[in-house]
Parts: sequence; structure tokens; C-alpha cells
Amino acid sequence: MEPTDDVAPANVLEARPRRGAARMPAPSIVMRDQPQVEVLSNPDLLQSRSAVDAVALERGGMVDWSRTRSRISEEFRLVQRQILRTAFGPGSDPGFSNLLMVTSARPGEGKSFTSVNLAGSIARQGDHHVLLVDADSKRDSFCYALGLAESRGLLDLVSNPKLDPAPLIVKTPIERLSILPVGRERERSAELFSTKEMTRLIQSLGRRYADRLLILDAPPCLSTSDPAVLAPVVGQIVFVVEADRTQRDEVEASLDLIQACQTITLVLNKQQISSRYTFGAYSSYYSS
Ligand SMILES: Nc1ncnc2c1ncn2[C@@H]1O[C@H](COP(=O)(O)OP(=O)(O)O)[C@@H](O)[C@H]1O
Ligand SMILES: [Mg+2]
Repeated sequence: MEPTDDVAPANVLEARPRRGAARMPAPSIVMRDQPQVEVLSNPDLLQSRSAVDAVALERGGMVDWSRTRSRISEEFRLVQRQILRTAFGPGSDPGFSNLLMVTSARPGEGKSFTSVNLAGSIARQGDHHVLLVDADSKRDSFCYALGLAESRGLLDLVSNPKLDPAPLIVKTPIERLSILPVGRERERSAELFSTKEMTRLIQSLGRRYADRLLILDAPPCLSTSDPAVLAPVVGQIVFVVEADRTQRDEVEASLDLIQACQTITLVLNKQQISSRYTFGAYSSYYSS
């Protein structure tokens, strides 16, 4: 697909779901076109010790961030500015505001795409380290694409609180981006996610890595209780809405479930603009 310029101006707002007049703002991220991974041609990055190679990053949806003028970088930059302000700006709460959960109503709406690209974009362009946490144990989680399906991670840490998280964190060829895989205890994931240990673990990871942005790629709100359980312990949520697919009542039901979080940013994904498939900007309001 050709890069497109005919994307509506991006608009990033904060949503605080309230009964009666929930806001539905949306930043935007462009549909990726020809995936390229620039790090392959950068010898410095190739020399860095990492368990995730550049090809795996490409497979996982890591786009060509090096083309700084590319539309996708622009779109993610708009979203990330707001996220970083909430995470580290004036009035932020270190160890809490830096915990960001990405969720949506249903599977397939672009949570992992958003998490992975947001993480990469912030790590590449900002001053902040990003720890991308795979918190979705489904087979299409981004860890599978990155070849990390068999690595220990989040679920192992929950089932064994004595385990040190540091050795489980995987480096990537992008200097400020590292990954905590979902882990090996996936058959027990439903049970483990609902435990107090999971919320305690997320809180302790937030505090331990207070200087990093932790992006949790979570499951959908309407098929698991995980986002609702985690909502009170994360500082912010990015809620992905798929254009022409996610229904308004699904958005409303999901926002009700995660309303314990005070800062929810809605993004509209896969918007069709001028017959091209993009992640275009969009903003609207609705009342319940
Ligand atoms: N803006 C986008 N541009 C291109 N492909 C996208 C976009 N958003 C999602 N996809 C693709 O759609 C599929 C589902 O997205 P994914 O992020 O895995 O959904 P979820 O994590 O919500 O289940 C994946 O193949 C992903 O690469
Ligand atoms: Mg996913």
C-alpha cells in the first residue's frame, strides 16, 4: 500500500468516562504500508545483545520508525505526547502514572498493533525507556510473532512471586525498548489474571521501573475480566475502537467496566479515508 497523506488531522484528547456524557476522542495511527525495519542496516543496533531480532520485530508489526516523516510515526507521535505527559508530566504519580494498559471491546481491533507500535515509537523518538508487557495469553499475542511464546514472563512471575523480573525482560535491537513476554503458564492464565497477585505484580513493576513507560497489551474488555481487574491499578488506558466495526454499545459497556481508571484515551483504528485503509484521525462525542 502506498503511504497516504489524505488523513484527517489527528486529534488526541483525554477521556474520563462519566455517566451521561462520556467522551469519545480519538488520536490516530496510520495503517502500515510496506513494513521495513531500518535497524537491519544500522550496525550499532545489530551489535546490541538482544533476543528479539529485527526480522521478528517486523513480523510483530514494528514499522519503519526511522522514516521520521512517515505518516505512521506522525500519528503515533500525537498519541505518545499525551501519554508521556500523563505518565511523567507535572502532577504525575511515579510508579503509577507510568502504567499504561491498552485494551478494546473485542479481539482483533488492534490492541497489539497499537501497543507494539506505540512502544516502538516512544522508544525511538523520546527520552523514555519503554517496557512492553504482553498481558494477553491468546495465541495471537505479539509474543508469538516475536518468537517469545516459550519465554518466561508475566504469568510465571504471578505464579512464583519470588522470581526476579529483571532476567525475564528481553532486550530488542531498539535501545530503549524491552519486552516482558506473557510467560509459560498460559493454560492457567484465566486463573492467574484474576488473582490479587497479578494486580500486586503490576503495581510493583510500575514502581520498580518508575522511570519507564510500561505498556500492557491486555485482552479485550468484553471477553475477559482482566482489563476490569487491572483498571484500578494502572495510571492510564488506551482504548482502541475499530472503525466501522466496534459498536457504540460495546464501547459504552467496556468503558463502564474500566471506569476505575481516571485517564482513558480512545483511539480509532483502521479508519477508511479516501478509499484507503488507514488509522485516521477521528473525534466524536456520544452520550449514554
Ligand atoms: N492500523 C492498522 N494497520 C494495519 N494493520 C492493522 C492495524 N490495526 C490492526 N492491524 C492488523 O489487524 C490484525 C488484528 O490486530 P491486533 O493488533 O492483533 O488485534 P488485537 O490485539 O486487538 O486482537 C493484525 O493482523 C494486525 O496486524
Ligand atoms: Mg492482541
